[in-house]
Amino acid sequence: MTDRTDLSPLRDVNAHAITDAATAGSRFVRACLRQPVDRTPVWFLRQAGRYMPEYQAVRRHHTLLEICRQPQLAAEVTITAAEKLDVDAAIIFADLLLPFECMGLDFEFQAGEGPVIHHPVRTPEDVARLRTDRAAQLGYVAQAIERVVAHFKDRLGIIGFCGAPFTLASYMIEGGGSRNYIHTKTLMYRETDAWRRLLDKLVAVLSQFAKQQVEAGADVIQVFDSWAGALSVEDYRDFVLPATKTLIAEIQSYGVPVIYFGVDTASLLPAMRETHADVLGLDWRTPLDTAWRRLDYACAVQGNLDPITLFADPELIRNRVRHILDLAAARPGHIFNLGHGIVPETPVENVQHVVRFVREYAAEKALPGKQHG
Ligand code: CP3
Repeated sequence: MTDRTDLSPLRDVNAHAITDAATAGSRFVRACLRQPVDRTPVWFLRQAGRYMPEYQAVRRHHTLLEICRQPQLAAEVTITAAEKLDVDAAIIFADLLLPFECMGLDFEFQAGEGPVIHHPVRTPEDVARLRTDRAAQLGYVAQAIERVVAHFKDRLGIIGFCGAPFTLASYMIEGGGSRNYIHTKTLMYRETDAWRRLLDKLVAVLSQFAKQQVEAGADVIQVFDSWAGALSVEDYRDFVLPATKTLIAEIQSYGVPVIYFGVDTASLLPAMRETHADVLGLDWRTPLDTAWRRLDYACAVQGNLDPITLFADPELIRNRVRHILDLAAARPGHIFNLGHGIVPETPVENVQHVVRFVREYAAEKALPGKQHG
C-alpha cells in the first residue's frame, strides 16, 4: 500500500516541473497513470448527449446511428460538448452496440425503448454464426477520432471506447436492456462452452476495434462494463473476469492506459482490479476513499458524483464536489467524473459549475494557509 505522505516530496518536485507545460491532455493521461498533476482532471460520462441543446439540434436531422457512422458529425458532436464544458478530455461520440452489425446482428434504437436486437443470441448455433472477420467495417469510428485529434492536437485527452464482453453479451442475448439477465445467465450456466466462445469472439472484435481507435490517436480507451453489477463475485470471477482480463491486456499492449467502468460494483471492485486496468470507474454508492482503500490504491480511480446531484442547486453541488476531492486527498491517480452518465434533463450550467468547482478547489488548495474542511 502506498502512503500519501511518502508521495508528497515526489509530487511537489514533479508538480513544479509540469505546471507550465501541463495541457489538459497530459493532465488527464498522467492521472490515468497515477503520475502527479497540477490539478485533478475532469470529464463526464455521456458529456455529449440529449441534455445538450447543440446535440439535440444535430439529432433533429439525423438518427443516433447516422451521427455515429458519419465521422464528420460524430467529431462535431464530440468537439462541441468538450469545448462547451471546458473539460480535460473528449470521449468520442459512438455507441457500445456498433460492433454488433459487423458480427452479423441487426439492431436499432427505438424511441423511448433503448436498443432492440432483432434476433437475439440464444443457442450455441447462434454463437457459431457470429463473425469476427469484419471489424474493419467499424473504421468510421477511427476516422471520427482522427478528426477530433486534428482539432484538439495535444490540448485535450482523447478517449476511445468499447463495451466489455459481459455487457455486450448481455445485450446480444437479452435482445435489449434487462432487469434480471435470465437469458444471459441461463446461457452462461447451462451452455458454458458456448458462453466462453461468445466472449472470445467479442474479445477478438473489440480488441481490433480498440486498436483502430488507438492508431487513430486515442490517448486512452474506456471499457464499459455497465451491467457487471448484476453479477455475484463468484459468477464474475468464473464466467467474466478471464475474457475481460484478456481484452484489457490486449488494449494495453497497444500502448494506452485503460479505464474499466461498471455500475453497482462495490462488491466486485477487488475482482475487477485483477484485470489490471489502469483506472477503475467508481459508481457513487461507495465513498471514494473506501473504494480506493479496498483497491489498495493499486490503480487510479475515476468518479464518482451521483449524476442526479446535477439537479440540485449550485451550493449543494459544490459541497459534493469538494467532498469527493477531499476524499481523494490529492493522491495521484484521481480523475473527477460522475458515477454514471449524465441524464437527458440535466441543466447544462450545472455540469459547467462542476468543472469550475474542481478548478476552484485546486486554486484554493494552492494558496498557502488557506485550508477548508
Ligand atoms: O458523450 C458520450 O458519452 C456519448 C457517447 C456515448 C453514447 N453511448 C451515445 C448515445 C457513449 C459513451 C455510449 C455508451 C453506451 N451505449 C453505453 C455505456 C454507457 C453507460 O451509460 O453505461 C450503453 C449501455 C449503451 C447502449 C445504449 N445506447 C442505450 C442503453 C441507449 C438508450 C439510452 C436512452 O436513454 O435512451 C443508447 C442510446 C444513446 N447512445 C444515446 C446517446 C447520446 C441517447 C439516444 C439518442 O440520442 O437518441
